[in-house]
Amino acid sequence: MADSAGIQQGSPAVGAAGLVPAAPGAAGSEGSGAAGGSARIAAKKAQLRSSPRPKKLEKLGVYSSCKAEGACKCNGWKSQNPPPTPPQTDQQCSIVNLQEPCRSCSHTLGDHVTHLENVSEEEMNRLLGIVLDVEYLYTCVHKEEDADTKQVYFSLFKLLRKSILEMGKPVLQVQESPPFEKPSIEQGVNNFVQYKFSHLPSKERLTIMELAKMFLNQINYWQLETPSQRRQRVPTDDVAGYKVNYTRWLSYCNVPQFCDSLPRYETTQIFGRTLLRSVFTVMRKQLLEQARQEKDKLPPEKRTLILTHFPKFLSMLEEEVYSHSSPIWSQEFMVGATGGQIPIHTVISAPPVARPIYYSTSPVSVDQSTCGSPARKLASVLESNPVGEKRKASEPLHHEENKRPKVVGDIPMDLINEVMATISDPATIPETSLLSAHSARDEAARLEERRGVIEFHVIGNSLNQKPNKRILMWLVGLQNVFSHQLPRMPKEYITRLVFDPKHKTLSLIKDGRVIGGICFRMFPSQGFTEIVFCAVTSNEQVKGYGTHLMNHLKEYHIKHEILNFLTYADEYAIGYFKKQGFSKDIKVPKAKYVGYIKDYEGATLMGCELNPSIPYTEFSVIIKKQKEIIKKLIERKQAQIRKVYPGLSCFKDGVRQIPIESIPGIRETGWKPAGKSHQNAWPFMEPVKKTEAPGYYQVIRFPMDLKTMSERLKSRYYTTRKLFMADMQRIFTNCREYNAPESEYYKCANILEKFFYTKIKEAGLIEK
Ligand code: ACO
Repeated sequence: MADSAGIQQGSPAVGAAGLVPAAPGAAGSEGSGAAGGSARIAAKKAQLRSSPRPKKLEKLGVYSSCKAEGACKCNGWKSQNPPPTPPQTDQQCSIVNLQEPCRSCSHTLGDHVTHLENVSEEEMNRLLGIVLDVEYLYTCVHKEEDADTKQVYFSLFKLLRKSILEMGKPVLQVQESPPFEKPSIEQGVNNFVQYKFSHLPSKERLTIMELAKMFLNQINYWQLETPSQRRQRVPTDDVAGYKVNYTRWLSYCNVPQFCDSLPRYETTQIFGRTLLRSVFTVMRKQLLEQARQEKDKLPPEKRTLILTHFPKFLSMLEEEVYSHSSPIWSQEFMVGATGGQIPIHTVISAPPVARPIYYSTSPVSVDQSTCGSPARKLASVLESNPVGEKRKASEPLHHEENKRPKVVGDIPMDLINEVMATISDPATIPETSLLSAHSARDEAARLEERRGVIEFHVIGNSLNQKPNKRILMWLVGLQNVFSHQLPRMPKEYITRLVFDPKHKTLSLIKDGRVIGGICFRMFPSQGFTEIVFCAVTSNEQVKGYGTHLMNHLKEYHIKHEILNFLTYADEYAIGYFKKQGFSKDIKVPKAKYVGYIKDYEGATLMGCELNPSIPYTEFSVIIKKQKEIIKKLIERKQAQIRKVYPGLSCFKDGVRQIPIESIPGIRETGWKPAGKSHQNAWPFMEPVKKTEAPGYYQVIRFPMDLKTMSERLKSRYYTTRKLFMADMQRIFTNCREYNAPESEYYKCANILEKFFYTKIKEAGLIEK
């Protein structure tokens, strides 16, 4: 992670903790800050708009080339009595005569403004707006001390000046045009909310969205440090890259806040993760610092939100911002059908007024009396406060269609949203029914974690740090749990590994005591982690703790970018590991783990491949919600069809089997025949092509494939079951002979073979 040191914000206009936006560097000269500067320009523009036409012509003449015959080169009328520098709009001074000669070319003011004769008042006002921006930038160029910033002001000044001369619209030509990175910061934060909080009841989700909006607003008014300040603070950083973004930010976001003749964009909409990474750590630190300093001034109803939830929100977001594998920055990030996501938009807003940041979002009532874990606090806060109602459904938030490609059979998002609104929130379901026979195994554990009854910590011994007493106590506790639950393991061996600095243990703590854990060793270079011991104390087993532990371990590894687990499972524990997604079909190539993982006699090697897009600790809630949505969709479909067909009578007449599609009414339900071939059959569909598999026909003497088999079937070659089975088996054997065990083909052969024999057994063609 970068950016840990504190910084001095560049411009004097940056407020106490860098939270009030600054006008371009000259703000100090303009008075008390950005908002004032911007308001003053706006007032001057209004004043000029209402002035008489000759006054407007005089002002524009200063920036217009001379049109006198004889190809005069003068590019702006200059008064004989020069105005103070910088030029000022002074309504009190007398209006000059159109006949007054130019100090530079001696042609009259009228010669400089002939092109404006038939120009509408509206166009005049637009050009005058640019003039005032030019004058403001002129001041900025002169006052600015930072070379990079000065250069940008100057190029914007030149651009605006040119657009007055040409009566055109200012078009920035800073390398490429926005957006500069996708997904944008705004989209990334939306994805983050979706990724981490979509399972929450809607009221809690609204609070999270409130925090997200607050955060996005902060970025939009955040004053970036100059490249030279950055170079000093983070010498190892890619300052050239930063400078490119800084220039873009000044040109497209910052300066246009004050010079409104320039097109303005929001930082969160045109920049992505790169810019966010360069500001996040410092910004987070300053925001939290300011919150602490101003805590007594915060309105009581905002305190919990800002002092408790916002820091947690920022910490969680920070992990995703700096992680290399976070899915929230993927262009393919899918808004799951469960989410019913309400995108958080930042709206181009009026120039900010100087005010503390926290009052910028809609009011949220917060109950301060709550205690427990942050998540629990959030829950109780929301239970006791009608946040959702107060926000008037959070305008301007609105639904957005999924970004993923459409697939045949996709259900329209509108319908999903409609159904989403009718399904019960987990928060409104009484706990007893949440923990019914149908609830997920980890549901109770998740609830306990929310209430603060249990905690999860990854701990380990360290040779570099002074031992922490509490951690040592927990390690001893783990050693006890493991040795009781794994009686076949020598106690000394358990002690050695639990206290070995290379091993870590995810420990489950209840009432301050260790009641379970998973001891593991990470092999980042080999791309896997070995699970060494896994146990939950006897009286706490089968309560979902084992599942929740494993889910936390999965999330921990996704954060650390290791996506494979390997373990030698004890024969009694195979069932548990299977339920956690482990299988005997190992995905890690053998060469990667042989010699690294410890071999245990009598145990079975099992592996689990992690999917970084899955929030494992919330997965069962998401699935549950999806199931409910599907149930509702089916109910709706049934209500629409409402037709009862008479039962099938063909079986009474001796028919043994009919095609599914011939059942009356089946197609009306939306049923479609499944794809013809198994998803792992693709390598075997046709004879292997020589060009694609060099030397194949030298190695494989009796090739076989599914196309040849169907031709043989049609030509009635298969007179016995044995012939058919032999050809099928040949496909699998050939494949395994020619291909390496790690190859996709080899794996397909194994999977299809398994499928084939299951089907054959089901059909009674071979004995079970
Ligand atoms: N065999 C088959 N299924 C099991 C086993 C088992 N030994 N233990 C738990 N399960 C099932 C549960 O019934 C539950 O299934 P369900 O969701 O369909 O109801 C599921 O696995 C998960 O149950 P949890 O309550 O989440 O798990 P629990 O808290 O009981 O912890 C654990 C499981 C760690 C295996 C615990 O039972 C235990 O400590 N056992 C003794 C020690 C042990 O065998 N450890 C593994 C040795 S291998 C190794 O350490 C690498």
